Amino acid sequence: MSALVQPTARQRSDALVFFGATGDLAYKKIFPALHAMAKRGKLDFPVVGVARAGFDLPKLIARAQASCTDAGVLDPAAFAQLARQMRYVDGDYNDPATFEHLKAALGECQRPAHYLAIPPSMFGPVIESLGRSGCASNARVIVEKPFGRDLESARKLDAIIHTVFREDSVFRIDHYLGKEAVQNILYFRFANAFLEPIMNRHYVENVQITMAESFGVKGRGKFYEETGVIRDVIQNHLLQVVSYLAMEAPSSTIPEAIRDEQAKVLRTIRPLSPDHMVRGQFRGYRDEPDVAKDSYMATYAALRLYVDSWRWEGVPFYVRAGKSLATTTTEVMVEFKNPPQVVFNEPAPSMGNYIRFRLSPQVQIALGTRVKKPGEGMNGRPVELTLGEVAEAPGQGVRLGDYERLLGDAMAGDATLFARTDIVEAAWAIVDPVLHGPSALYEYEPGSWGPKEADELTHAVGGWNTPC
Ligand code: BG6
Repeated sequence: MSALVQPTARQRSDALVFFGATGDLAYKKIFPALHAMAKRGKLDFPVVGVARAGFDLPKLIARAQASCTDAGVLDPAAFAQLARQMRYVDGDYNDPATFEHLKAALGECQRPAHYLAIPPSMFGPVIESLGRSGCASNARVIVEKPFGRDLESARKLDAIIHTVFREDSVFRIDHYLGKEAVQNILYFRFANAFLEPIMNRHYVENVQITMAESFGVKGRGKFYEETGVIRDVIQNHLLQVVSYLAMEAPSSTIPEAIRDEQAKVLRTIRPLSPDHMVRGQFRGYRDEPDVAKDSYMATYAALRLYVDSWRWEGVPFYVRAGKSLATTTTEVMVEFKNPPQVVFNEPAPSMGNYIRFRLSPQVQIALGTRVKKPGEGMNGRPVELTLGEVAEAPGQGVRLGDYERLLGDAMAGDATLFARTDIVEAAWAIVDPVLHGPSALYEYEPGSWGPKEADELTHAVGGWNTPC
């Protein structure tokens, strides 16, 4: 099939087509990202929205404007540029005529990137039609997470995509990889000579990642009932973070070196057992619209991972994530072992040295140290050194928004910040054993730190790090 002729790795796509143009994701993320590109002078290609909503172009432009206004980013000149580039195709994804119209809307464009911001159940029909209509020639495809529901369905989805697109033309979005703070984990680890020698089992006592959100499912009950916290953020966002923290140094700057190391380290993580996991559900979740009254879906999970690599053998990696928790923040703590206490006659500190990566809402890197308290005794106190802080909001100033960054990279054919098929499969293989139950589910109070049963997991290392 001619559709298998794909652009060479770095040829820039010359149009962006997005399916699901009237949907939620487009409204919340894609329009503001395109607007930010326009503001930076980078939106020099047509943007074709596709949906089956009975819209026309003026209506889609009005929706884009409302989206940018709601996101608080509307800039008249940038929006005018976005509106000039927009085109619209209305039609059913199962109707071949839709793809003929798409072809016409693409006009002279030769190398489109197709962004599937649609439910995974529609991927198959859309991809086949793209292939049949010739719209997939020299094209790339961008797909959203979660990629599948488990290992088996992810493989099936890949099989469908690969009938039309080669792997190097597939861009699986995990917007965490587009975050400045997540890229800084990688940079900070490997750009600092003092750090790398101590990032291993000889010095690190444990690693903790907390992704707390103070809000509930925000009306997305239907999505959440099919997904739950493990599929929603652990299999993808948080395991990507684990891979950046635990991987070996990439051997060179060729694009695949980073993804090769990510895949390698994820394959060393033992598949989860229910004994190393605590699942929770916030009180009130079952009263949400579209949620079953006896729902067994977890809105919180805490787990202990075993990274069976030479570097990390025996170092626990604790991961927890939840909705309706005490605050909204995502933080990584790498806690080092305490030095021997024979030199100073003081009790062992409850917290020794650490590196703290705050991934959101602020971007911060901090080092936890101890210094002497003024006075006669040799007693210390903790002092935190903040090393890096980016204050301005994503999309403003120098900080690119995650979707802006990822869409730009996909258009340019740079796949480094996208999940390659083996990475996605390795991540599913880790969580697969606990996806289909049975395992206990504990209720927790909204506004708390989750079920107290999760404290047991980190008992041996003095408990969870509570971001403040
Ligand atoms: C999404 C999840 O992928 O990531 C949401 O579906 C979650 O449930 C969101 O709230 C968190 O991302 P961010 O960038 O807002 O921290």
